[in-house]
Amino acid sequence: MTNKTNAAIDARRIAATPRGIGIGFPIYAERALNAELWDVEGRRYIDFGSGIAVLNTGHRHPRIVEAIRAQLDRFTHTAYQVVPYESVVSLAERLNRLTPGTHAKKTAFFTTGAEAVENAIKIARAATRRPGVIALGGGFHGRTFMGMALTGKVVPYKTGFGPFPGSIFHVPAPIALHGVSVDDSLRAIEKLFKADIEPEQVAAIILEPVQGEGGFYAAPPAFMRALREICDRHGILLIADEIQTGFARTGKWFAMDHYDVVPDLMTMAKSLAGGTPLSAVCGRAEIMDAPAPGGLGGTYAANALAIASAHAVLDVIEDERLCERAQVLGDRLKARLEGLRARVPQIADVRGLGAMVAVEFAGADGAPAPVFTKQVQNRARDAGLLLLTCGVHANVVRFLFPLTIEDAVLNEGLDILAVALQA
Ligand SMILES: Cc1ncc(COP(=O)(O)O)c(C=O)c1O
Repeated sequence: MTNKTNAAIDARRIAATPRGIGIGFPIYAERALNAELWDVEGRRYIDFGSGIAVLNTGHRHPRIVEAIRAQLDRFTHTAYQVVPYESVVSLAERLNRLTPGTHAKKTAFFTTGAEAVENAIKIARAATRRPGVIALGGGFHGRTFMGMALTGKVVPYKTGFGPFPGSIFHVPAPIALHGVSVDDSLRAIEKLFKADIEPEQVAAIILEPVQGEGGFYAAPPAFMRALREICDRHGILLIADEIQTGFARTGKWFAMDHYDVVPDLMTMAKSLAGGTPLSAVCGRAEIMDAPAPGGLGGTYAANALAIASAHAVLDVIEDERLCERAQVLGDRLKARLEGLRARVPQIADVRGLGAMVAVEFAGADGAPAPVFTKQVQNRARDAGLLLLTCGVHANVVRFLFPLTIEDAVLNEGLDILAVALQA
């Protein structure tokens, strides 16, 4: 018999599962709907984390549930690379149209975000026949070996797991708030080309247009433009990791839509499929075709249930105008946070594109304030609001509520947040 208290299940978790899978909140989910979640003890929470940016369309959107149910009644699995199905082709066609750039594109589907990153690097290496990849400090690209190698943060993601794949290099991300300018970052790339690897051996530069785990820092447009120019000059591919930024979160379909620069390859996952595991790499057709048949794939890649879910996600984003909604919600949240600045001196910065908003905390001396950040998160949780933190110093609260959140639920969550910030 299952013991339905959080404490009892948590004791069993500690005995039965390894501590390496760190748990954000020791509350056990029973059910969820849109931006609300109930635990096994019947306690209700407002979910401002969306399962780490997966639920831009909310928990169990009726159209998504219906799409998955309809697919369940047809078939769940054939292995797409053994017996394919048309829904994959039509989803690729839709993403090829929706992603930035009017050039010919192709899309391949996988399962997790890290797998999309792995495959983007495989494709870039196959297309360029070069080994090197440049990534940014503070960036996060997943927990597989290439994902870890590209990730620009050691603790906890890389601790004890090396050695990592070679030919991966990091340069500092341009974050003015932390004293790193666009020129500083560009100089670091030039230094890399002199000290570590010639540009002709670099396959790709990969970056998140807005760093997710790293702290919700948007790449300055001048930096993105300069990267495009460096890539064009040296035959390097530009890869945008849109796994956290995609699907209306930033007020546009993709964060790259905010830039006048088009990437060669893009990785997608998370909110692509509304809570079912699906990821994708989309890019220039000739680059995507570089790997030979059989070089890409996976048993569960393009899982039929996840593909059905993704079609419904795209329909909901279009029909409910979630890009516009993200901008409205993000503006409302930013105004609320700005209004609290006078009473919460720890607020060092409020920033965000669309609804991809974060608030950063620092002490009176300007030093990052991770303890305060944790206190805010705990106080909010105790009052029934789930918040996620991020940032290399763990001093940022990031907001990732569903873009379908009801106004009343959003306001209730913001009221809890205001109290948690001032307690
Ligand atoms: C930008 C980015 N890339 C890659 C990943 C890895 O995705 P997954 O956890 O699905 O493997 C994440 C996950 O947080 C991410 O935010």
